[in-house]
Amino acid sequence: MKELKSRILAAAAGDLAAIEIALKRNLTPYYDLVARTAEHILFSGGKRLRPLLMVLSARLCGYNGNEDKDYAVIFEYLHAATLLHDDLVDGGEMRRGQTAAHHIYGNATAVLTGDFLLARSLSLAARTRRPAVIDVIAQITESMSQGEIHQMDKKGDVGLNEAEYLEVIRRKTAVLIQGACHVGALICDAAAEQTEALKSYGRHLGFAFQMVDDLLDYTADTQELGKVVGADLREGKLTLPVIHALAKAAGRDREAIIAAVRDPDFSMDRFGALVALLTKYDGLAYTAQSAETHVAAAQRALNDFAPSDAKALMTDIADYALLRKA
Ligand code: IPE
Ligand code: IPE
Ligand code: MG
Ligand code: MG
Repeated sequence: MKELKSRILAAAAGDLAAIEIALKRNLTPYYDLVARTAEHILFSGGKRLRPLLMVLSARLCGYNGNEDKDYAVIFEYLHAATLLHDDLVDGGEMRRGQTAAHHIYGNATAVLTGDFLLARSLSLAARTRRPAVIDVIAQITESMSQGEIHQMDKKGDVGLNEAEYLEVIRRKTAVLIQGACHVGALICDAAAEQTEALKSYGRHLGFAFQMVDDLLDYTADTQELGKVVGADLREGKLTLPVIHALAKAAGRDREAIIAAVRDPDFSMDRFGALVALLTKYDGLAYTAQSAETHVAAAQRALNDFAPSDAKALMTDIADYALLRKA
């Protein structure tokens, strides 16, 4: 795992450095409070997965211009905007090991800075002079906002099933990662088959990525994750580990899981007992297997691309989605 991470970081170092510069160059806030709030969320150690995938997708399709990094930041601005909003909606305390932005700058500033970042991503999309790119960004935003509301509305609902969970994570996570890969293809007018293959890669990676995120919420270490472990449960947010366990458990075990989901004051000393139940009913293993299936599908989607450094890196990134600890 260490080896895989170092290999990815070494192979992506040049692109990541250029993305970092483009993130600073394109932000252009006029008001200091906007700058501070945006910088708090943007420069606190994000992995830059989405912009990197846009750059790599474009490269797979033969991109040879020099604006790819400026377009790639669209997806980090969009991601940061949704995180500002998401932490507010979820009552998130910590993001990337730091206090969540709304706790420092207030709810109104966090929401409005999110709107600013969303607008920045649309301005950059307009610079591509391709309506199809703007359409992708608008659709991502429609999808994510509704996915987040859907999820929020179902908090505490123990009747939530796997199909509905999949619809929520498709909308709130997979569509953005798919969109990053899609725009990589669009900016080089890639052939339809290549475009569809990259969309499929992004979509499957997105599903896997969120499933692993939901798994880490039960299995990770808060320090290492940079987010508070157990947060989903405390919010009453049902994710696949719980949904699967609830579908299989009966009697007192089922009651115990339901009680945990419904208790907003659920304490960390009882958390271990809940994780044991999720393990007993295969909730954790099933989620990991589902993520693995999506990673394999993402990698298969790249089959028809000729071997290249970009393809190898995208294959490694898919593997890393399963092994990541943060
Ligand atoms: C967090 O995404 C939100 C999810 C979709 C699970 P990342 O794990 O990519 O967040 P950063 O940007 O690297 O912190
Ligand atoms: C992903 O869901 C957030 C977005 C797609 C905006 P989560 O709520 O699980 O993400 P984290 O755990 O807060 O990063
Ligand atoms: Mg959240
Ligand atoms: Mg999460």
